[in-house]
Amino acid sequence: MMAFSRFAGRFPRSISTAALLLCLVVPPSPGISETDEEYSSALLWIASMESTTVIWLVYVSIFITIVWTKIARGTTASTPTTKRSLPPPPMAAGAPLLGILPALVMKGPLQAIHDAYKTMGSVFTVRLLHLQVTFLVGPEVSSHFYHGLDSEMSQDEVSKFTIPTFGPGVAFDVDLATRREQIRFFGDAMKPAKLRTYAPLMAHEVEEYFTKWGQSGTVDLKHELEHLVTLVASRCLFGDEVRGKMFGEVATHLRELNDGMRLVTILFPHLPTPAHRRRDRARARLGEIFSGIVRSREAARRGGRSSYDDILQSLIDSRYKDGRATTETEVVGMLVSALFAGQHTSSSTATWTGARLLSPDNAAHLLAAVEEQERIMGRHGPDPGHMGYEALQEMDALHRCMKETLRLHPPALTLLRLARRGFVVRSKEGEEYEVPAGRTVASPLVIHNRLPGLYRDPDRFDPGRFGGPDKGASLAYTAFGGGRHACVGEAFAYMQIKAIWSHLLRNFEMEMVSPFPETDWNVVMPGPKGKVMVSYKRRRMAAAA
Ligand code: HEM
Repeated sequence: MMAFSRFAGRFPRSISTAALLLCLVVPPSPGISETDEEYSSALLWIASMESTTVIWLVYVSIFITIVWTKIARGTTASTPTTKRSLPPPPMAAGAPLLGILPALVMKGPLQAIHDAYKTMGSVFTVRLLHLQVTFLVGPEVSSHFYHGLDSEMSQDEVSKFTIPTFGPGVAFDVDLATRREQIRFFGDAMKPAKLRTYAPLMAHEVEEYFTKWGQSGTVDLKHELEHLVTLVASRCLFGDEVRGKMFGEVATHLRELNDGMRLVTILFPHLPTPAHRRRDRARARLGEIFSGIVRSREAARRGGRSSYDDILQSLIDSRYKDGRATTETEVVGMLVSALFAGQHTSSSTATWTGARLLSPDNAAHLLAAVEEQERIMGRHGPDPGHMGYEALQEMDALHRCMKETLRLHPPALTLLRLARRGFVVRSKEGEEYEVPAGRTVASPLVIHNRLPGLYRDPDRFDPGRFGGPDKGASLAYTAFGGGRHACVGEAFAYMQIKAIWSHLLRNFEMEMVSPFPETDWNVVMPGPKGKVMVSYKRRRMAAAA
């Protein structure tokens, strides 16, 4: 997933860094007292720094502000979209200078954006430091966001900061046409025929992983599933041959890549912070490891020994429309992107699914999911090797639990675009506004999927709501995005999480012994906060006839 949502990092720390840098560039406006709390603490912090550091920070901040402004000016159309002049979207109240920042820090993003939505309606603008962001909430106002042309609603400007993470030659380091072709390569590697070949790999990886659990015990489910998801994804990406020996190192570097994508990264992707330095070292090492693998595949092919059927081979064999083969740098970048896109999103979804199913309030949903496993075992046999593609596709009850989990806990907080051309939007309340060219536009998934007009009793976990006509249609359900840039890994993610939970439900009785996890809003890509402790006991499930 290549979105704002992918940033994993400590929110307050990153925010305050960004706020401090802003304080260095923007003096307090006349209306703002110098005793303003955030501003004075910034000044105190600055005062405690070496003068060379201060000068350096001022220099970097000015430079980046100029570049940012130039990019926005250079890439946006200034022609108005309408002959009538329409007002811009109304501005939500915010603190002087800091805008919505204090509310974000104090209430958390869900509450802060929800409060603004309650007061302002479906279309409104907030100020976050020097940035104005227009929020579009709900399917009625989101069509242009999701379906607009890339030349008009662009990901580029708001996503360039991902380049140090994904590396050269892929994603936002290449032009749109190349990027679209690369996404097609991913799409090809995720087609049902390919997914069918990954299903047994997933089942075996999961089976093998849980052999290390004893007859009974207590574990941190979040920690366990983070590991397992990386193992499953690695096996599908690289097959068996390398997954085992490089797993430990790759997992560490992936964590460092995640940790190196913080809020401050959006504005200052190359700021030499410790986290960015670790990210750069991790990316370089991953590049070496993956290049080695790609080269050994090429050598095997030359020696006529190539018979691989994994995602890596699919990416190596991919061809651009002009017949050009993918380069080693591109394949490596796509491998890193695939691992990055799927890792945190899937592991946090796997953990939330468990927390929801094991919550005492949801005993009936757990029972339905367990009974479904008994029935499916009855049809396909108890051997884990039989839990293949067809069996996973039949797990409707589990599928609905995951879908409902994602509705309530989307790993992507909000998606972002830059409006290169101004556009008109009619709010749900019937007002027309012109969103100006150059404006950052946001679709906040975190409240989009909880709108009472779309979902009855929206905060309740109710997988049954997806039993009828699929609400995934027409932008009502956006956990995987939608329109032009809908997630290409959705089916893969469902399959791997179902493979994990199907095994757990069949083989263990489980109880959550820690409270239902809170959401960690302190990271930009929200996930379950703290440990999710679960006690388990092995069981032998009888197949239902
Ligand atoms: C539960 C797991 C996942 C969730 C919730 C998720 C969510 C998303 C979302 C919301 C977007 C839209 C981004 C935007 O519009 O700006 C997206 C795009 C994307 N995702 Fe995922 N994702 C998941 C797993 C994966 C996996 C496993 C892969 C690949 C292995 C993947 C690959 C991608 C790619 C390549 C795109 C970009 C599509 C485009 O720009 O056309 N995702 N994802």
